[in-house]
Amino acid sequence: MSESIYPPSPEFSSQANVPSMEAYEALYEKAREHPEAFWGELAEKELHWFEKWNHVFEWNPPFVKWFAGGKFNVSYNCLDRHLATPRKNKIAILWEGEPGDQRMISYQELHRLVSRFANVLKGLGYKAGDRSIIYMPMVPELPIAMLACARLGIIHSVVFGGFSAEALKARILDLEAQLVITADGGFRRGKEVRLKDAVDQALNDCPNVKDCIVLKRTNSQIHMQEGRDQWWHEIDKDASEDCPAVPLDAEHPLYVLYTSGTTGKPKGILHTSAGYLLQTTMTMKWVFDLKEEDTYWCTADIGWVTGHSYTVYGPLAAGATSVMYEGAPDYPAVDRFWRIVEKYRISILYTSPTAIRALLRQGDSWPNSHDLSSLRLLGSVGEPINPAAWEWYHRVIGKGRCPIVDTWWQTETGSIMIAPMPGAVPAKPGSGTLPMPGIIPEVVDFNGNPMGDGKEGFLIIRRPWPGMLRTIWGDPDRFKEQYWSRIPGIYFTGDAARRDSDGYFWILGRVDDVMNVSGHRLSTMEVESALVHHPAVAEAAVVGKPHEITGQAVCCFVTLKKGDWDHDQLGKDLRQWVAHEIGAFARPEEIRFAESLPKTRSGKIMRRLLREIVTTHTVTGDVTTLEDINVLSRLATQHDED
Ligand code: WT7
Repeated sequence: MSESIYPPSPEFSSQANVPSMEAYEALYEKAREHPEAFWGELAEKELHWFEKWNHVFEWNPPFVKWFAGGKFNVSYNCLDRHLATPRKNKIAILWEGEPGDQRMISYQELHRLVSRFANVLKGLGYKAGDRSIIYMPMVPELPIAMLACARLGIIHSVVFGGFSAEALKARILDLEAQLVITADGGFRRGKEVRLKDAVDQALNDCPNVKDCIVLKRTNSQIHMQEGRDQWWHEIDKDASEDCPAVPLDAEHPLYVLYTSGTTGKPKGILHTSAGYLLQTTMTMKWVFDLKEEDTYWCTADIGWVTGHSYTVYGPLAAGATSVMYEGAPDYPAVDRFWRIVEKYRISILYTSPTAIRALLRQGDSWPNSHDLSSLRLLGSVGEPINPAAWEWYHRVIGKGRCPIVDTWWQTETGSIMIAPMPGAVPAKPGSGTLPMPGIIPEVVDFNGNPMGDGKEGFLIIRRPWPGMLRTIWGDPDRFKEQYWSRIPGIYFTGDAARRDSDGYFWILGRVDDVMNVSGHRLSTMEVESALVHHPAVAEAAVVGKPHEITGQAVCCFVTLKKGDWDHDQLGKDLRQWVAHEIGAFARPEEIRFAESLPKTRSGKIMRRLLREIVTTHTVTGDVTTLEDINVLSRLATQHDED
């Protein structure tokens, strides 16, 4: 296979933070040979410490501590320390609401708003170690709430506003949160997403929640429960604006972010403070080549890890202007992204392959009717980007001038792990290219032995890194089992990959029962357990099916309880049911009704075969453990009859 290579232009390289392959290699080598010196020096230079640490890292597999003994505060590092510099009056958050309203908040102003809200939380009695759930639209008060929690050491968990009341409830309960911060609603495609209604429903079953703070965004009618619910603007208005950041341990938990695993129960990924912030800051400079004058826009919702690390914590720690947009990319028309790029003169744009493919499909006239000349760097994240989408992004959006950084990482890794440094590393469309300094990925077989170049295997990471997850909230055994037991003592990513002869990594997708829909991780088991809760469903098996825009789509095989069912209607009902149980983004693309599902003799559903059916409409490979071979031919031919 001949592959295209896009080396950085001399113009880009000459201004880049990391200007050459030699410079990249020198960083990489130093981090590999002398990790303590490498990270220790960066921590001192790039971050503010109330007290210096004793050790750069302590590794007791699978548990790691970075900068133990150090006293640190994330909110201080994102705000206070910039105030003694010319960044004081720089825009920190540049926000546009879906209806077109705008806010430009300077570092000084953000510091004031965060301090005031932190005092509100303090006034309600919250302190370091307590837990809050944040369920908000993409408005500035969302990062304000996060930074206020971080200021006091309150552990936050942001729940994406697209999750249902059921999913919200499960997260509140798992975290044993006492506080919920929300809004009446948010705007999406011109309609209101009624967040407070979902909160009310969830809180019916969450007796531990004492306080609910509600931001007024949409101004719609909502229920306020006496003694529990308070308006943000009312309790915030008289709060003092003096709230010193609390010096916390470098390893103090910053947040828990729930993500799907291979069971029905989401995992609460725990990230801590100093190591996480150091690595997100460094990757802002290395991967996004961040400069003081950039206007940087990561389009991800803050409900996902990309928004945590690359809309809020990384950019603010690095002193960037971070753009936030509330609504849908196609509202009121499919050029909304390009309008925003043009209007604010965005220089760095970071988005997902799903968004790129969806915009590509609308044709070139939409981006071509806007002035995109401010762009200088483009990024991609969340799923493999196919070369056709890559080329379009490069040619039509970047006008052939802008390097593209394809960034591989995970909720668990906290920061970008594999990506090109754009002034140094030539890009190959579809490859994340080379690892970041301090990251030692490898492609191995089942026993952990390295695969030769060009061979497919499991992607693992040797050695701990600063932004690594520390555990699964409340479940250290699952943490060990999920990530550190497949190959004992080594981090298992769950992805398949191969490395080519230039050392470039090519990510091939998940090897477990996890789907990736529009760059959002979704477990097959989660959808299955939602389906079997429906009164008509006997059994369900769910697989990801290749999809032109969203990468994968949810495809469900369902057997029904006895009864006279209208399949058309029931198919619609079940799709709606899943959206209701999990969230609209999980809505299945397809429901197929079957008389039975292919199982092993021990009764395990053979998802591999179902995956093959939805991908190729045929079945090959080993079926010797299959219970009822006829099931297969029926399922495989069903598609053609549809
Ligand atoms: C999984 C992690 C971390 C960003 C948002 C997703 C897939 C992520 C890439 C990429 C190919 C990618 C992997 C990974 N993935 N980025 N650049 N190329 N695949 O976070 O929900 O934790 O999902 O997304 O399969 O394991 P997430």
